Amino acid sequence: MLVLGIESSCDETAAAVVADGVGIRANIVASQVLTHEKYGGVVPELASREHLRTIEPVVGEACRQAQVTLRDLDAIAVTEGPGLIGSLLVGLVYAKALAFSLHKPLVGVNHLEGHIHSVLLENKMKRAEGNPVAEARLPAVVLVVSGGHTTLFRITDNPQTSPVFAYSRLGHTRDDAAGEAFDKVSKLLVLGYPGGPIIDRLSPFGNPQAVDFGHVKMKGNPLDFSFSGIKTAMLYRVRGTHFASEAEERRAWRKTVDHPTHEDIRAHCSQETLDLVASFQNAVVEDLVKRTLAAADACRFDTIFVAGGVACNSLLRQRFAEASQQQGFQVFFPSPALSTDNAAMIAAAGYYKLQAGERAGVSLTAHASLPLGFK
Ligand code: KG4
Ligand code: ZN
Repeated sequence: MLVLGIESSCDETAAAVVADGVGIRANIVASQVLTHEKYGGVVPELASREHLRTIEPVVGEACRQAQVTLRDLDAIAVTEGPGLIGSLLVGLVYAKALAFSLHKPLVGVNHLEGHIHSVLLENKMKRAEGNPVAEARLPAVVLVVSGGHTTLFRITDNPQTSPVFAYSRLGHTRDDAAGEAFDKVSKLLVLGYPGGPIIDRLSPFGNPQAVDFGHVKMKGNPLDFSFSGIKTAMLYRVRGTHFASEAEERRAWRKTVDHPTHEDIRAHCSQETLDLVASFQNAVVEDLVKRTLAAADACRFDTIFVAGGVACNSLLRQRFAEASQQQGFQVFFPSPALSTDNAAMIAAAGYYKLQAGERAGVSLTAHASLPLGFK
């Protein structure tokens, strides 16, 4: 079954062709980073316009790379939410029009379910290629951690509707998503956009113990997250100090260079700034790992999936690898290309829904806050 996946929930216009939920024939992502870079964050109206401009060429390129025509496709899977409503609508309306004009089945996919499926997709692909990797089996605890989400799910096979899975939400961020905190701290220190990958690359040059951001204590559900405290602590540490004047110097320098490398950025950071950045990353990563392991303990599961853009983070991967060795958990990550927003994960998740007989009708629409699973 050849499924065309379409994803446009935030600032990436993406299309992919995936065979039988496992074989990626094409996975095209048009990033809008250059559009949003100068604002230090995604501007929703600009994102919608970019999606409108790019959706058709991106789908065309996916079909070209997969060496298929639209008529060869068996079905279309599209992100229906959560995300920016204008952005979602572009992909959704396009997918609906394609499906109904070609008389192909259509299925709506929750973006978070897509991220979860990126782990299964990667694992199945590796195993199909003969890589000696362990099978990513359910039940599992999943951490979806990105610029828009920081959520822990419990995922099991649902015997009633197999092969569609059952999700329940174990914890969720009460304020910023972890990736958003990375991006905001990077904006504050004028390091560049998006902040996550830059902070990831700078942090090994700083001392992660230099600044103690403390531990986040959650009242109520201990599996919830909160990153606003760390972000505010950072703001107070920087505002009106030498960190702020150094950031202003970087702002002036950034106006003179178009696309500085990570090495260029590092060369414009003092050791104290590198220490601050490394300590910030360390605090966020420790918190993510601690709560995810607590969730796995609470569920008595030994399998953990980590997905979403922040899953690219080197320290996060390292800490989970250590925990898996010391505490006997099996932790699965997608490759970086499947961790950030992409449409292969949407096609892969859609495949299971289509197999289970799910079909979307003309009433399918976008939902900015579409939930996944039971709270
Ligand atoms: O999954 P994604 O592409 O889009 C959303 O659904 O949000 O995630 C993007 C987020 C951004 O906040 C970006 O800064 C963060 O993922 N990110 C990282 C890294 N790579 C991307 N954060 C930390 N370390 C990284 N290496
Ligand atoms: Zn995402």
